[in-house]
Amino acid sequence: MSKKFNYHGLIAMAAISLFACNNTSQQTDSSDAAAASQTTADAATACVSALEKKSFEETIDGKTTGLYVLKNNNGACVAITNYGGRIVSIVVPDKNNNPTDVAVGFKTVKEYQGPGDAYFGALIGRVGNRIAKGKFTLDGKEYTLATNNGPNSLHGGNKGFSAAVWDATQPNDTTLSLSYVSKDGEEGYPGTLTANVTYTLGADNSIRIDYKATTDKKTVVNLTNHTYFNLNGEGSGTILNHLVQINADKYTPVDATLIPTGKLEPVAGTPFDFTKPTAIGSRIDTVNNIQLKNGGGYDHNFALANAGPALHDAAEVTGDQSGIVMNVLTTEPGLQFYIGNFMSGKNSFKSGAKDDYRTAFCIETQHFPDAPNQKNFPSIVIEPGKEYTSTTVYKFGVKK
Ligand code: BGC
Repeated sequence: MSKKFNYHGLIAMAAISLFACNNTSQQTDSSDAAAASQTTADAATACVSALEKKSFEETIDGKTTGLYVLKNNNGACVAITNYGGRIVSIVVPDKNNNPTDVAVGFKTVKEYQGPGDAYFGALIGRVGNRIAKGKFTLDGKEYTLATNNGPNSLHGGNKGFSAAVWDATQPNDTTLSLSYVSKDGEEGYPGTLTANVTYTLGADNSIRIDYKATTDKKTVVNLTNHTYFNLNGEGSGTILNHLVQINADKYTPVDATLIPTGKLEPVAGTPFDFTKPTAIGSRIDTVNNIQLKNGGGYDHNFALANAGPALHDAAEVTGDQSGIVMNVLTTEPGLQFYIGNFMSGKNSFKSGAKDDYRTAFCIETQHFPDAPNQKNFPSIVIEPGKEYTSTTVYKFGVKK
């Protein structure tokens, strides 16, 4: 652990200049200079990540990508690129007040475009998770999507929102607004969909993600964020000892291609019972559990208790070494709990650590997978004149 923090310490100076470049407060007049420089100093102390702004500056599809940094006065900092709206880094204090980067990510935009990417940090759309056989029917018309994951369509198809360059506006140090217009017929989906996503870093070290979308034709939409977390810090090894609590009495079992069977099954008495804080790995090797076999581990949608239109508690995860606690609140009915079963160890993250098997996990808040083909699941259909909205909050604190 101390090695990691020393490493971070060594690169702190580089990080300070990066964050100074991004500090919108510095563009204000000198009357604000003292306050702005205080803000910069506090955040820069916390934001010790080996990112170079220019490694995120590319022209893709005729649009410019860059790196945007949100920071607060409480030692938290979030770096986001508008390529795929991806969270590249989240630095928060651990139980000893050491700045810790809890989101894994690459240090160049090129790596996010390469074969080693697995939707790291990305905004996912138009439809998160899988659609069986890449087909669904709306008002009697069948739509065909790319089958980019075995026989199924995954995370929006060949070029989903994770590979789009979003228009970005950063009005202040704690807010980034992104927008993307997905054309009628893009990736096979009907209707022009205008998506707006706002990331807000709270003074309480929460990252709030507000999603909105409108369409000009009836369509389907299910947006999420695909950040891979390691609450002990990127490069700290397995996440199997993290403690997880998920407020779900039921989950949606899947077939061998990870398409839900359509049933909602109780978690009680199974390795899917996370209703009390439980180490991720404590039941991972349960023999003959067909669901763990089908998922290659946990890669399942949990149906959240207390789901409703308001924000509700969805999950709590604690890093066993760092003491960092992440609380997840959402307006969504479900979450995909994925523990990096497909991480290959062939690629290097920004710290130099490899993307080794199960060294990060995702909590993707969402409507249930394959919803367009599952009549018992909450609908993801939206119509013109009605706005799609969704909010998720990832809040970071510590347990000593
Ligand atoms: C899916 C996994 C997939 C991962 C990365 C998750 O949302 O459920 O099956 O491997 O995303 O693509």
